[in-house]
Amino acid sequence: MDLLSSTPLACARFVTLKTTHGALPKSTHFLRSRFPTFSALMSPPSTAVLYENHGPPDTVTKLVELPPVEIKANDVCVKMLASPIHPSDLNIIEGVYPVRPPLPAVGGREGVGEVHCVGSAIQGFSPGDLVMMSPPSDGTWQTHVVKDQSFWHKIDKDTPVEYAATVSINPLTALRMLEDFVDLKSGDTMSSDIKHVLVITGDAIVQNGATSMVGQCVIQLAKLRGIHTINIIRDRTGSDKAKEKLKNLGADEVYTESQIDVKNVKSLLANVPEPALGFNCVGGKAATLVLKFLRQGGTMVTYGGMAKKPVTVSTSAFIFKDLSLTGFYLQKWISSDKTQECREMLDYLLGLIREGKLKYDMELVPFSESHMALDKSLGKLGSQPKQVIKF
Ligand SMILES: NC(=O)c1ccc[n+]([C@@H]2O[C@H](COP(=O)([O-])OP(=O)(O)OC[C@H]3O[C@@H](n4cnc5c(N)ncnc54)[C@H](OP(=O)(O)O)[C@@H]3O)[C@@H](O)[C@H]2O)c1
Repeated sequence: MDLLSSTPLACARFVTLKTTHGALPKSTHFLRSRFPTFSALMSPPSTAVLYENHGPPDTVTKLVELPPVEIKANDVCVKMLASPIHPSDLNIIEGVYPVRPPLPAVGGREGVGEVHCVGSAIQGFSPGDLVMMSPPSDGTWQTHVVKDQSFWHKIDKDTPVEYAATVSINPLTALRMLEDFVDLKSGDTMSSDIKHVLVITGDAIVQNGATSMVGQCVIQLAKLRGIHTINIIRDRTGSDKAKEKLKNLGADEVYTESQIDVKNVKSLLANVPEPALGFNCVGGKAATLVLKFLRQGGTMVTYGGMAKKPVTVSTSAFIFKDLSLTGFYLQKWISSDKTQECREMLDYLLGLIREGKLKYDMELVPFSESHMALDKSLGKLGSQPKQVIKF
């Protein structure tokens, strides 16, 4: 694909990195294996979203052409099909995330592709296989990725690529958070024989940032387990439509933050039980609202900080309500030797996706428009669905 001549918008950011003549970026660690050794098996050249310094993702990234890399005996070369843009990908480029790939680096950590060719020692993968990156690893925003076979997980070819590209971080986070902190009791919603009122059994959870991909997965996975969800979204244009979408996914209650600005939030719950567990995706005031809903002895798990504001807790919440506050970090969970367990859960989630029981909002964006997708992900154009780059 000749991006230079076919996509004028991308043109401004297009740089060809020369390997034999001309200047290379100061640090060329990522090109080391791109120098061909005589008769080595080589990948095709790769077009990539690269950053040489940390900073605002919309200014420090550029579209470059990287030369072929050597495919070693245990490597698999994958032609990427799709890769999402997550808030953490932006934070990594900004240099404010614990994951810090050496610079220059290619953006993105999650994605799916088709095996292009394999190293001489590979037996479990063949050209044409659909594979996803698992565990997540650096450099998915490029047309061809070469990595050791341990990074690739073969999946059913019937899986929609946009879901295969996005299942390994957010849906897995939702699944783990529902399992790992509080022993939630499953239940049901029934009509009472005597007074014909709804009787709700089982536990409930409360979350903010419910429109996020994690939030949408929490709603559906909780529903499948018979757990009720109280969902908080921010006040913004389109919040009514967002509420409706979440209800269609199975949300029991959805409130905007301003709707919860009442003295006794429990009065909003009607017959939904007080939640034992809360998820905080946002921080600031939205975290305080989650705490308000929690029952005596409840737990709030913080996993995101979208508002970039700290969590503040009243003294009485600790002393009299006996609340517990903790955090979740998927990367840490996966690193504790959980690759196999993780892949089993991904297969479970992919099964739900294929059965139509797990879905979420996404917008597929052509690779040549990845800078526009970055702008949308940065919130420059208001609330947007998850941006997924399609190669
Ligand atoms: N700890 C972990 O292991 C882990 C794993 C996965 C994700 N995460 C974190 O989870 C969070 C959500 O990730 P995601 O990929 O699911 O999100 P996403 O699908 O990209 O959606 C972004 C969410 O953030 C909300 N948002 C954006 N800017 C905001 C602001 N200034 N104030 C309040 N809310 C704002 C959006 O609300 P609107 O719909 O109103 O725009 C939307 O709900 C991120 O912080 C991410 O880093 C953490």
